Amino acid sequence: MRYAAITGWGMAVPDRILTNADLERMVDTSDEWIVSRTGIKERRIVGPDDSTTSLSVTAARQALERARLTADDIDLIVVATCTPDQFLVSQACLVQAELGGNAGAFDLGAACSGFVYALATASQFVQTGLHDRVLVIGVDTLTRFVDFTDRSTCILFGDGAGAVVLEPSDEPRGLLSTVLGADGAGYKHLYIPGWGAFVPESADLFPEYRPYLQMNGQEVFRFAVRVMGDAAAEAVAKADLSFSDVDWLIPHQANVRIIDAAARRLTLPREKVWVNVDRYGNTSAASIPIALSEVETTGNLKEGDNIVLVAFGGGLSWAAGVVRWGVAGVCQDAECRQRRLPSRSR
Ligand code: ACO
Repeated sequence: MRYAAITGWGMAVPDRILTNADLERMVDTSDEWIVSRTGIKERRIVGPDDSTTSLSVTAARQALERARLTADDIDLIVVATCTPDQFLVSQACLVQAELGGNAGAFDLGAACSGFVYALATASQFVQTGLHDRVLVIGVDTLTRFVDFTDRSTCILFGDGAGAVVLEPSDEPRGLLSTVLGADGAGYKHLYIPGWGAFVPESADLFPEYRPYLQMNGQEVFRFAVRVMGDAAAEAVAKADLSFSDVDWLIPHQANVRIIDAAARRLTLPREKVWVNVDRYGNTSAASIPIALSEVETTGNLKEGDNIVLVAFGGGLSWAAGVVRWGVAGVCQDAECRQRRLPSRSR
């Protein structure tokens, strides 16, 4: 059987830091309120020289380098984002324009669940043998769509990108199970009006039109607590594992209280749960690949570790999966890698 191992990983966040103290000067809020309700202390936000493309490209270059590949070796680029730099062309094509190569390229939209949706999609291209090397990016710049006079949303979000490279393995590596779900009727609890084909011709006709993220925080919170635990538990069961087999839980980083609820559901101690929401806030589709990259680069992952990824987001959507870490079964020697390269069909 063919699996889709993760052979490269990378992340990027903007340099600009927005602290809770900065937000105290912008809206009626306090560091104490933000930390106690969300766990967030600071977040990174895009500056004039940053873009969804620039963050994606930085993360992707790291992932390619770690996989010892170039953009020419890649068969397909899948970008999960709800904040592309523009709608025509796809974000994936904008990324490829910077990276080079002629891989197939498309976007996938599932808001904060997007990276896990994209990993599930991309893994199948590798597992079926249709492609050998796929670059998957989760990226968002939601601070460009946040109303910085609205204290109920502007404290939550940050910007960033994460990327992984998938390659075939003969051993069970990469995504072992997948859980995808959505409650479309719940879209109204978290959305950005406009910026699509449904653009009001006249603001008079649509007085409620505001092109900023709209959120019913309490509804989303209740939804998130329920689906994060359920989806994570289902992913573990689908992989034929038990909770004690889980080495790491890498949850979507939206709110530390939601993360804690998911960890409790899997009966995992806190030291097995990666938390960086305090430093980055909610980076949407980027949050899981950023966290994955951090767990690896801090030396916390070893060959064969079982990682549960679980996310929720706009849609309302949710997604989870078990990833087995490592490159066992991936061809490593130069001759084998060379043999595989020409297999890409143009
Ligand atoms: N500072 C101070 N007070 C605030 C702030 C703030 N930044 N924001 C809201 N408040 C006030 C409210 O006005 C309210 O005051 P009131 O009681 O006088 O009316 C009070 O605090 C309580 O507000 P709640 O909304 O009940 O606060 P809650 O405990 O639910 O926390 C939060 C709000 C943090 C938004 C929480 O509901 C949450 O995390 N929800 C999930 C949001 C989320 O994760 N969204 C991202 C989804 S992912 C994607 O796809 C983009």
